[in-house]
Amino acid sequence: MAETDQVAASADRLAAMNLSDSVQNHAFSDRVLILSIVGRPDGGAGLAGQRVRAGGWVKTGREQGKGTFAFLELNDGSCPANLQVIVDAGVAVLSKLVATGTCVVVDGILKVPPEGTKQRIELRVESVVHIGEVDPAKYPIPKTKLTLEFLRDHLHLRSRTNTIAAIARIRNALAFATHSFFQEHHFFYMHTPIITTSDCEGAGEMFQVTTLISEAEKLEKDLIKNPPPSESDIEAARQLVSERGSAVKQLKDAKASKADISASVVELNKVKESLSKLEERSKLKPGIPQKDGKIDYTQDFFARQAFLTVSGQLQVETYACAVSNVYTFGPTFRAEQSHTSRHLAEFWMVEPEIAFADLQDDMNCAEAYVKYMCNWLLEKCLNDMEFMAKSYDKGCIDRLRMVALTPFVRISYTEAVELLEEAVKGGKKFENSVEWGIDLASEHERYLTEVKFQKPVIVYNYPKGIKAFYMRLNDDMKTVAAMDVLVPKVGELIGGSQREERYEVIRERIMEMGLPLEPYEWYLDLRRYGTVKHCGFGLGFERMILFATGIDNIRDVIPFPRYPGRADL
Ligand code: 4AD
Ligand code: MG
Repeated sequence: MAETDQVAASADRLAAMNLSDSVQNHAFSDRVLILSIVGRPDGGAGLAGQRVRAGGWVKTGREQGKGTFAFLELNDGSCPANLQVIVDAGVAVLSKLVATGTCVVVDGILKVPPEGTKQRIELRVESVVHIGEVDPAKYPIPKTKLTLEFLRDHLHLRSRTNTIAAIARIRNALAFATHSFFQEHHFFYMHTPIITTSDCEGAGEMFQVTTLISEAEKLEKDLIKNPPPSESDIEAARQLVSERGSAVKQLKDAKASKADISASVVELNKVKESLSKLEERSKLKPGIPQKDGKIDYTQDFFARQAFLTVSGQLQVETYACAVSNVYTFGPTFRAEQSHTSRHLAEFWMVEPEIAFADLQDDMNCAEAYVKYMCNWLLEKCLNDMEFMAKSYDKGCIDRLRMVALTPFVRISYTEAVELLEEAVKGGKKFENSVEWGIDLASEHERYLTEVKFQKPVIVYNYPKGIKAFYMRLNDDMKTVAAMDVLVPKVGELIGGSQREERYEVIRERIMEMGLPLEPYEWYLDLRRYGTVKHCGFGLGFERMILFATGIDNIRDVIPFPRYPGRADL
């Protein structure tokens, strides 16, 4: 093709892409996002000749041409790609710019680089506006390739790495997709409490929220500084009260003036007050307040025992049973000693709840939601997904495509156990033995989804003995209308159920499980008054990110992981 034809063809392509030939500053900052340069379909080439200000952190920098200029790979986190920046020695002290992690803001002109370079555009710097220097000898993450495990010890700086930034953008995209999916389907977003007085899962894995300990510590310190009054201090104060009392009496007997009597009554009241203060203080005991040999929670902050929530489900049900379709999306907490790559002590859960809907509807909603998130990442986050595929898990993009397109397998728990038993007969070894009634272990779940079906599997109708009290009892009286969604790489991604809407049955179930009725009375009211069939599920948000990215450890897909022994920052 002749050169003029080539130019015409590329101009046509650009016109077809509807690319603007000018680039704007970010709406709320005085610089252009690197995304709006290198994130264009033409890689930024169409912006050649434009004068822009860019800012970011140096990924790699090197002085070249015997120190006459420097190349910087600048990244501002708006996208995975860097902007190549060229600075001449006449413009700035190059040695201050090149260390990894340095923050620079520069003004310059976008230019098409010479043939043969991989960049489609580069920035020739005219002036350096800001330098946030880094001492490479002290910077904790100066290298570009560091293990994720190492980075866990530097949570506050790991967001500067390509991997953690890509995960952050994927996490953000999945949160947006979540709201978009539920809003499109007419669900209302509800904020359920983080501090709760009910145990949703009835599993007793809750962190307690209390001020009793800090109050006790404060009191102990105070008692050391100002020791409580001794018996003789109190006796002396009593003596004073009795003396002042007699003085008042004498004045009254002597028919003294009203003014004199009032003055001495004021004196009497003063000493009475300080006596009662002393008596009050002498009762203070160090330690946690007790009553009848137990901790006295009436003296705690909420005047009762309170916890961090393990799930927003019970509370969100109150809104489902009023405005029909709702979801909650917030942090949840579990004080379980799980040191696995799939458990956190603080994780985020998405919990929809649907009125006038049964287990089938629940499974349909869960499947549609997971597929929607997969499509969303393929459409809106492909560059980050390509980074994950290149760096961590070759198959992650294909997995998203497969899940988006393939109907999920649906099998009952009984069928699942039969399949596992068959596998055992065929020579498959599991650490946990298989028989009807067991809680499926992660290895069983992963066998079903990764080996047997190689796609997502929904297992439904679990034995009632291994599931929570709120799940609807099936007519066989042995199983409940529960469902778990199992996916490759992760195992259990979603747990949900149709809820028990029959008052007598759920009351019976609470008692059968040895749970106290009193804390659940409000929950029973939803069944006493205007009950309705309803269902819902919880999706572990970090597990969805593990599944999407192929990252191995859940501690790397939440910005600030909390797990036994660790809660940094
Ligand atoms: O199966 P779970 O315990 O279900 C509930 O809490 C229900 N109340 C949800 C509902 O019906 N509204 O938890 C739901 C999901 C699990 O499938 C798993 O993906 C995730 O939450 N999950 C955890 N993720 C990270 N760390 C942990 N410790 C988790 N425990 C559960
Ligand atoms: Mg579960």
